[in-house]
Amino acid sequence: MAQSNKKFLEDVFSALRETDAQGLNSNKGQDILGGLSGLKTVGALQRLAGLFKSYDDACYLEVGVFQGLSLLSVALDQPNVSCFGIDDFSILDPEQKNLALVKERMEKLNVENAILINEGFEEAFDHLDDYLQGRKIGVYFYDGAHDYRSQIMGLAFVQAYLHENCVLIVDDANYEFVRQSSVDFLKSFPSYKLAFEAYSPAHPANMDKATLQKHEAGWLNGINILVSDPDNLLPVMLPAVNPDKSLYVNDWLVHRHPLAHQAAEALDRLCDDSLSDGLGKSSGIENKSDAGGKTGTLFYNRNTFSEGLPESRFNAFKN
Ligand SMILES: C[S@@+](CC[C@H](N)C(=O)[O-])C[C@H]1O[C@@H](n2cnc3c(N)ncnc32)[C@H](O)[C@@H]1O
Repeated sequence: MAQSNKKFLEDVFSALRETDAQGLNSNKGQDILGGLSGLKTVGALQRLAGLFKSYDDACYLEVGVFQGLSLLSVALDQPNVSCFGIDDFSILDPEQKNLALVKERMEKLNVENAILINEGFEEAFDHLDDYLQGRKIGVYFYDGAHDYRSQIMGLAFVQAYLHENCVLIVDDANYEFVRQSSVDFLKSFPSYKLAFEAYSPAHPANMDKATLQKHEAGWLNGINILVSDPDNLLPVMLPAVNPDKSLYVNDWLVHRHPLAHQAAEALDRLCDDSLSDGLGKSSGIENKSDAGGKTGTLFYNRNTFSEGLPESRFNAFKN
């Protein structure tokens, strides 16, 4: 029988509070696993998946496996929970080695409760029940493509497969367009609430060493954690976003342009070469350009506009 919404929310908040204070739930496999998620992010996934360990009809599912850190850390920590990971290995894999690496790690760590779905998430969601076989997703981690459309569709397409009590974890919420997708989803689907958010001042590629170490042990590039709240027990809380929506409106102008596919490259070329030394550089450039009214340091790439956002903030749920 399903838990009441109130008891479920209490369990979710206590799992998140424990994670924010302690990080990982267990470090099984951490000597082998490496990846792109903060240790508190992984700890939250482990504890939240643990809330479903006695439910045969529930599972954990993530989009964005990369080299297996999040998927296999959850599977090892919660051996009674079926864990599914979707990835088409389309980015961050120049030598095309990640699929084989994840399989190798699963074997080395004797992981028997994880299934890798080697497909784009949009295609996988067209026939997901071939894999889930009637199970419903209790914990959903979206860490795939981070463009606005993928973020929002990643939250929309999963709806048909969710457990009645569920948690949706959105990674890389430092990025303003990721926060915007959370806001748009939360406003469109008021039966979900933001339970927790955490941010760091910049993308990890633009952090100094000490700041990077601190946030690698935390929520790395920011997190939004959404929870189902059909009984409306939680107050509305929304991530901060820029009221100026002109960049989203400009999408229209880019999409219809004959050189649309070169838009990112063209912008790179427009950057003053004397100030930039290639993609992923970590030193800041001065904000002299029109950045939609945003102030502060601008980086050559991966601007998140997350400076000054809370390091961690819980919904004011009274339990
Ligand atoms: C940041 S990594 C995930 C990190 C991982 N969760 C970890 O703990 O290390 C993002 C992954 O999303 C995958 N990805 C990007 N676009 C995708 C899509 N449309 N469908 C499925 N996977 C996608 C990439 O191949 C990449 O491996």
